[in-house]
Amino acid sequence: MASYDLIVIGTGPGGYVCAIRAAQLGMKVAVVEKNSTLGGTCLNVGCMPSKALLYASELLEEADHSFAKMGIGVGKPKLDLPAMMSFKQEGIDGNVKGVDFLMKKNKIDVLRGTGRIVSAGKVEVKAADGKTEVSETKNIVIATGSDVAKLKGIEIDEKRIVSSTGALSLDKVPSSLLVVGAGVIGLELGSVWRRLGAQVTVVEFLDRILPGMDGEICKQFQRILEKQGVTFKLGAKVTGVDTSGKKLKAQIEAAAGGNPESIEADVVLVAIGRVPYTEGLGLKEAGVTLDNRGRVQTDKHLATNVPGIYAIGDAIVGPMLAHKAEDEGVAVAEIIAGQAGHVNYDVIPGVVYTTPEVASVGKTEEDLKQAGVAYSVGKFPFTANGRSKVNQTTDGLVKILADAKTDRVLGVHIVGREAGEMIHEAAVLMEFGGSAEDLARTCHAHPTRSEAIKEAALGVGKRTIHM
Ligand code: FAD
Ligand code: NAI
Repeated sequence: MASYDLIVIGTGPGGYVCAIRAAQLGMKVAVVEKNSTLGGTCLNVGCMPSKALLYASELLEEADHSFAKMGIGVGKPKLDLPAMMSFKQEGIDGNVKGVDFLMKKNKIDVLRGTGRIVSAGKVEVKAADGKTEVSETKNIVIATGSDVAKLKGIEIDEKRIVSSTGALSLDKVPSSLLVVGAGVIGLELGSVWRRLGAQVTVVEFLDRILPGMDGEICKQFQRILEKQGVTFKLGAKVTGVDTSGKKLKAQIEAAAGGNPESIEADVVLVAIGRVPYTEGLGLKEAGVTLDNRGRVQTDKHLATNVPGIYAIGDAIVGPMLAHKAEDEGVAVAEIIAGQAGHVNYDVIPGVVYTTPEVASVGKTEEDLKQAGVAYSVGKFPFTANGRSKVNQTTDGLVKILADAKTDRVLGVHIVGREAGEMIHEAAVLMEFGGSAEDLARTCHAHPTRSEAIKEAALGVGKRTIHM
């Protein structure tokens, strides 16, 4: 029987990163993966393919709408959807091969098949041909990720009624797309298909988009998306989809019930969240406790109630984000090695990769109001940022929230182009407990969009220069 210091079940960003860190720390490590490729949701059907399509579709839209006014004549750009899908697939292949390479480089065994915890210290792997093998291990990390949340009574066939997975691989542009859920997936993939030519309607249960992100920023963002042609039906729910005709007929009603109506669409994308995936893992038999939402319950050291079994990533509490899973992977490997690994959950950036992007780190204005924290606000719109003006990309603003007494930065929220790259100076500042004054006195290169962050920081002290 093979014997390891650590077996990680799942090779998403949580699992493979955990395995690498553990190998760096001198452990003998194996990963178990049931899919034919490594990399999990993120690399295969999540972050990476969606970003490839967002990038390609954004360039198509730029070529169509912005090139001419910059004096670039290319004629009407033409979509070649199969080629765009090949572009996406090449990106996926490159990244998953990269993970294979990293496993080899770090001398990590890859056990292909479905993993099941027999008991603490024993993992069984069932290969595709049905053969099973049990390995011994001192420690187990559960990194089995998440799966699409289903909508009662609506069956996903991944052709006409799709989850994000089907929406990443449609073989033609639907003339109309109905998106259920104005969360990150709905807005990113809705943007992709709108740019490629679909009429997009988003139905959202709540009275706002992107719950959990700063309300003011999201209101601005919604207006920008509406200007781009996305239609929103907020405070509404889809109660069923009639698939009998050539067009789908979705029944919609108010979130609280009543006001029924029907919307026709070629494709319906169900994007109402994700749920932890622990099917067939043998957790019940192994005595591992789940919380009331089916997530593996862990303490602050990422340990479950069973000694020697840990869990990370989408399978446990917290934002379902690849970088959160990765940081937990590193932390748990260090904890197992006897070090002080930890994750600062107060400073995890979140980015929506639309155009413009939405990026956020720390507390929102709503969080601070609810917690009764006195705060000061500094804001700066991209309309007043020189670089944005010359590039004619002035949608959006930067908003900084700082403690009213100490000036410590508590949250930074941006809607604007490249916001996802810009947010990290705020994250580093917040990791060091920095103040708005620190940010405002840091020299920022000119001309950059990041100067809007400096100006918003100056705004906390009511002394912006360019506005
Ligand atoms: P996963 O990536 O889900 O990996 C789990 C792995 O475990 C899978 O490979 C699965 O096959 C394997 N597995 C499960 N059970 C077993 C078993 N019993 N035996 C063997 N293997 C098993 N996050 C971001 O931060 N940025 C983004 O831009 C972003 N975009 C996204 C876009 C989409 C469309 C989706 C769906 C998600 C996106 N996410 C994004 C979320 C991100 O993908 C997840 O947060 C991340 O993948 C979680 O990592 P993980 O390691 O916990 O699990
Ligand atoms: P989400 O939780 O972001 O959004 C789901 C939305 O659906 C919410 O606004 C919710 O109010 C709404 N909703 C729920 N039930 C509904 C119903 N019956 N009818 C109408 N609306 C309903 O979930 P999403 O977009 O599916 O994404 C899943 C996860 O993947 C997220 O947790 C996110 O963190 C991650 N992800 C991250 C990305 C990024 O970081 N850029 C990109 C894509 C996904």
